[in-house]
Amino acid sequence: MQVRRCAAVVVEPRERLAFDLARLLQGGTGLDGVREWVALAAHLDDEFVLDAAEVALLGEVPVEQWTPFDELVARHDRGLIDGLLAKGLLVGDDEAHGDVRRRDDDVRASHWRGIAATTHRHTRWGDVDTLEAERRFGRETDRPFLQRLGPPESLVRERVEAADRIALERPGDTPLEALIRQRVTCRNYDRSRPLSRADLEATLFRAFGARAVSEQPGIAVMKRAVPSAGGLHPTEAYLLVQNVDGVAPGLYHYHPVDHALEPLGAVPADETASLALRLVAGQRHFMDAHVVVVLASRFRRTFWKYRNHAKAWRAVILDAGHLSQAMYLAAAERGLAAFITAAVNERDIEATFGLDPMLEGVVAVCGFGWRGEMVTEVEFDPLCSVWPHGGTG
Ligand SMILES: Cc1cc2nc3c(=O)[nH]c(=O)nc-3n(C[C@H](O)[C@H](O)[C@H](O)COP(=O)(O)O)c2cc1C
Repeated sequence: MQVRRCAAVVVEPRERLAFDLARLLQGGTGLDGVREWVALAAHLDDEFVLDAAEVALLGEVPVEQWTPFDELVARHDRGLIDGLLAKGLLVGDDEAHGDVRRRDDDVRASHWRGIAATTHRHTRWGDVDTLEAERRFGRETDRPFLQRLGPPESLVRERVEAADRIALERPGDTPLEALIRQRVTCRNYDRSRPLSRADLEATLFRAFGARAVSEQPGIAVMKRAVPSAGGLHPTEAYLLVQNVDGVAPGLYHYHPVDHALEPLGAVPADETASLALRLVAGQRHFMDAHVVVVLASRFRRTFWKYRNHAKAWRAVILDAGHLSQAMYLAAAERGLAAFITAAVNERDIEATFGLDPMLEGVVAVCGFGWRGEMVTEVEFDPLCSVWPHGGTG
């Protein structure tokens, strides 16, 4: 067997608090800081606490070239090598290590920047309930929010005195201005009113559809409503359709060039909301959106051009932001409402739609539908564009 280090791993020095009875008996708090090295690899979901000898060995094994196992054993402690192989931080070229190696190969072939790859993989959630986390946070202290956190940064950073500012004219009212005013993140969807198929079609096309396809030699690119780094448009829209006339509840992939839905599996109508709730990490106010849209990016498409590039991951994330804004405006134009959230259970979404996090990773979840008639959850509408009372209930 030959061995090499995995493609992308970050070893983070961490400190956690541990209870120490002896310290308590000596009159202290009983808490002691435990410092440890934690390895986060781009091809593994688990994180591993390493000792100093393992960290040193990890740094010494070549990452591109394969080293014969016997050669490594001659120079290093066998137990350490076996331990790192078992964790998957060292990769073997034999079949016993095939699964880990294939995942590591995917990271290599995708041209991920190492630090971006590990951050992307290890900031994903699974089975998180943000509502429950908020309740727990609330129980930990009875101090009001502001007292607990202190004041935030100021609204605007003012670099000169007011008198030294050059006043600018505001634009007049135009259809675009009116549309922008209608864009209010919706947290109150109307379960009783189905969305029409025409509303689904128009919103999907305006936000995610291709207006043209251009065949450069060897590269196909599309023109969308939004810009995209390198013109590559790596971001796909996966749908959970809940309540649309003429479209069966279920999972779909949107084909932006054909402007068509690709069915990926039916979901019983009475189960879509609980699935939506899981995907948006327990945010009940989004669970009834008529259409939930997962934005998942095929990193390899952008990283094909921007290989191992310091800005590439950021560019992909910016893409998703543009798409969501286009969706908000497309929905607003038809009198519909929309949302976006980054607080999502990526692992559950990956399992639902069959996505590999490093090849087609979830960046955000958005959605649209009819706004309900009552404010149960606060919305931010200070201009009273959609709620006479500004969305505060
Ligand atoms: C990246 C991003 C993440 C967001 N995540 C959440 C979220 O987790 N939950 C939520 O209720 N709203 C979320 N929002 C919506 C914001 O809370 C909302 O934009 C903000 O309150 C301003 O309201 P407006 O969109 O109506 O102007 C998110 C918005 C963005 C751009």
